[in-house]
Amino acid sequence: MSADTADAIDYQQAPDNRKLSHLPGRYGLPWLGQSLRTLKDLPGFLHEQHQRYGNLSRAGLGGQHVVLALGPELSRQVLLDREQNFSNQMGYNRSMGPFFGGGLMLRDFQEHRIHRRIMQTAFKFDTLKQYLPLMNEMFSTGIVDWQQPPECYFHQQIKELLLRVAAHIFLGVKKNMPQLPLLNRAFLDCVDGMSALLPFEFPGLKFHRGCRGRRYLYSYFAARVAARRMSDSKDMFTLFAHERDENGELFSDDDVVRHIIFLTMAAHDTTTSALSSCMAELVGQTHWQTRLREECCDVLDGTMRYEDLPKLELMDQFMHETLRVHSPVPMSMRRTVRDCELAGHAIPAHSILAVAPSFSHRMAECWDNPEVFDPPRFAPGREEHKRHPFNYIPFGGGAHKCIGMHFAMMQIKCFLAIFLRRYTAELPAGHSLPITFQDVPFPYPKNHLPLVLKPL
Ligand code: HEM
Repeated sequence: MSADTADAIDYQQAPDNRKLSHLPGRYGLPWLGQSLRTLKDLPGFLHEQHQRYGNLSRAGLGGQHVVLALGPELSRQVLLDREQNFSNQMGYNRSMGPFFGGGLMLRDFQEHRIHRRIMQTAFKFDTLKQYLPLMNEMFSTGIVDWQQPPECYFHQQIKELLLRVAAHIFLGVKKNMPQLPLLNRAFLDCVDGMSALLPFEFPGLKFHRGCRGRRYLYSYFAARVAARRMSDSKDMFTLFAHERDENGELFSDDDVVRHIIFLTMAAHDTTTSALSSCMAELVGQTHWQTRLREECCDVLDGTMRYEDLPKLELMDQFMHETLRVHSPVPMSMRRTVRDCELAGHAIPAHSILAVAPSFSHRMAECWDNPEVFDPPRFAPGREEHKRHPFNYIPFGGGAHKCIGMHFAMMQIKCFLAIFLRRYTAELPAGHSLPITFQDVPFPYPKNHLPLVLKPL
């Protein structure tokens, strides 16, 4: 039976199943479970969990009882979800629902398919191509006056710059619009709200600030949908207001608003994490700065064009190696919609389930010396990522695979090509390697990456 029918009607109403004691593993402390351990060292926790209990186990994370499905084969079964056993909406509902409900990633099955097909137009190559000149310009001017330490903390600076680019490309909000700081604040509060331990709307609590941010964003965009339906701007907000399904139906105002809010978050925090991780690796291994800079100078004739992207082969390998080691989405969440089976174990209906790219990306069975940062493992002749179709999944897989993957890779390469031809970057005196990372909700260097930038 398909989840589009009968049992799909009530899977959204059912509470989470917390009875997983038949599975190997443990829940940890009451309520907190093993959350503190995962906050401190997620890869270490997943490694130990796998060594002790194997590919499928139970754990207590963020107040939930969770089935951990580890390794490429279980990732494949869960993400491809041939029998429609796994709900995205219910997997993410607890953390994201209040702030990003109705976003593409929080929709299931047939409804998700229809919405994704409509949104796909905004991600076609021809559309993406049009964004590159604006990105080139905003990155080039945006990094000109980056401050030296103690003011230049790369993670903060790139976060702010990417938010400005996102406001322009996704929302059609120009630099000098007075609402921009309020929109920024509201997005940041929503993202912060996702990690609130106390989910109560009580003034002063993270959760309350997140809900307030969501209300602001919702009313800001809802008030502008009608105007966007009349506009011929090329930003994604306007595109969503124009796209039609096969029957010629437009998205409702509510759908347009929910999609654009989710999309902006999905695009921004992941790319901030990816570029911060790239830069952390570049200051740790300065020979890679030289190699990538040389490649850019050889291949690019001034500003990067869309056709240049595949020519940056070393940069491609470097980017993928960074995404392998520091996956911006370390775990993907699902909830079972019915009783099913995984790795020979019965998984009851409504059980929360996590797959962990960040674990598969470091498995000794999948990669040669996985702890070594080694971009050429992605080069022709080695291609370790192809040993299993789900060995390397920073952008997920199956029906919910990242719709913004090509946009993200274009943005990462565009930024690095501009940055590396303008500056060399070093850690300031007194800061030592290796740089340690915060792993959740999105990986970033714990010290926010202070840099000394030397103009070339
Ligand atoms: C390095 C940057 C990025 C990474 C690593 C990344 C990763 C992911 C992953 C792993 C998923 C699937 C999660 C799951 O199945 O549970 C996903 C979904 C999604 N991403 Fe990205 N993402 C990135 C950038 C972007 C950008 C730039 C955009 C938009 C322009 C975007 C929009 C989305 C959307 C809308 C979904 C939901 C797709 C669906 O449910 O059909 N992402 N992303």
